[in-house]
Amino acid sequence: MSELMPDKKSGTTKKVQVEEMFDQIACRYDFLNHFLSLGIDKLWRRKAVNSLKPFKPKTILDVATGTCDLAIALLRLRPEQLVGIDISAGMLEKGREKLKKKKLLDRIELKQADSEDMPFDDNSFDALTVAFGVRNFENLEQGINEMFRVLKTGGAFVILEFSRPARFPFKQIFNFYFFNILPWLGKMISGDSRAYTYLPESVDAFPEGDDFICKLGNAGFTELSFRRLSFGVASIYTGLKENNNNFSDS
Ligand SMILES: C[S@@+](CC[C@H](N)C(=O)[O-])C[C@H]1O[C@@H](n2cnc3c(N)ncnc32)[C@H](O)[C@@H]1O
Repeated sequence: MSELMPDKKSGTTKKVQVEEMFDQIACRYDFLNHFLSLGIDKLWRRKAVNSLKPFKPKTILDVATGTCDLAIALLRLRPEQLVGIDISAGMLEKGREKLKKKKLLDRIELKQADSEDMPFDDNSFDALTVAFGVRNFENLEQGINEMFRVLKTGGAFVILEFSRPARFPFKQIFNFYFFNILPWLGKMISGDSRAYTYLPESVDAFPEGDDFICKLGNAGFTELSFRRLSFGVASIYTGLKENNNNFSDS
């Protein structure tokens, strides 16, 4: 179980704190997301969607869907059913407003639910996605096991998550921005001092790269691989519930 929490002194569980934190910043989340990442997050989500293209999934679950940016991008795959779940009612409300504005309310079904205890039968979805969500799970292994359970045999997943650039000078530039400038900007704009201190700390504590691949393999996923994006600031992890297809770049 991860020890890192948004507010260690609060006495509540990580799950409760994460839910409260995202409820708190939901109003400013989209703006901050695009502003702090200089808009690159949109490109990363597009790449994540493209990696599912060869599978032509008819049913997709977007876990930790937040304000629905990845779910909306997934519509390009023309699924018959697209479901987004998130633990934060505030984030889902913002997502719903966005879907309403874009007239997409009938294309994406939103549910408030915990990714570590999903309200779906075994083998329910052809594909599963998570963008910037797994790092926040209280029990990462439990979340991964749930992903494996609800994915159909033969199904594919894509996980997009922050990682840490390892090479000079990107490592130094990234660390300075992530640990010094971003928390300050985040606090100024969102008014929440926890959220943007927790962000770099949670990225630092996350078992990225081969370590994360190892955890995915332990749950039973196969054909596992990952690739780093934007000098390693983010990574895309892909895999299958069963080895009967291949991922390809598009
Ligand atoms: C950084 S946001 C990412 C949102 C969206 N996927 C995106 O790409 O912008 C992380 C989301 O994970 C959700 N989350 C964290 N833990 C969760 C859990 N156990 N179950 C469901 N959602 C969770 C949070 O509420 C938040 O909306």
